[in-house]
Amino acid sequence: MLKSLFVFGVLGVLLIPAQCDRISVCVEDDNDLRVDCLIPPKPSQIASYEFSWSTGTKEYVINTNVSGSSADKEFKNKSYVEELDPQGYRMILTGYTDTLHTTTYMCKMSGEVASISVEKEQVVQCSAMFLKSAGSWIVCLLLFFYQTHS
Ligand SMILES: *[C@@H]1O[C@H](CO)[C@@H](O)[C@H](O)[C@H]1NC(C)=O
Ligand SMILES: *[C@@H]1O[C@H](CO)[C@@H](O)[C@H](O)[C@H]1NC(C)=O
Repeated sequence: MLKSLFVFGVLGVLLIPAQCDRISVCVEDDNDLRVDCLIPPKPSQIASYEFSWSTGTKEYVINTNVSGSSADKEFKNKSYVEELDPQGYRMILTGYTDTLHTTTYMCKMSGEVASISVEKEQVVQCSAMFLKSAGSWIVCLLLFFYQTHS
């Protein structure tokens, strides 16, 4: 018990809050934009997702399966969503070209919103993200289990 507290403490100091992001954005080698949304599901709610971005003045829905809402027409058929194991959703937008504005990427799951703001032309390559995101995944999961089991 003490030992695990110690481990969580160390992890916490090292990696939180900066790395425990519930949303991450990167570009794959083939220029597809990848947005991972890691909001823990709520058993009491119907699972649904909505991915969108905003460039200040307008918000565009890229992909959603929230009933009653749909993607903006310029994003229709341009993206797909897959489920992440053990939780969360990944949205892939094909043929992404860097936007000319600072962009806020958002995802909604179970009524909660996560967002991240990315400066223009600052979207990172997914290959460079791997270690960071693997690390933050583990930490977020540990925290999640720690909170739910204590
Ligand atoms: C949205 O998609 C997920 C995963 O495919 C599914 O589990 C969920 O039921 C869908 N929600 C709605 C409202 O269709
Ligand atoms: C999207 O795909 C569906 C079926 O695959 C097609 O009927 C629809 O016209 C397409 N929409 C656009 C905007 O290309």
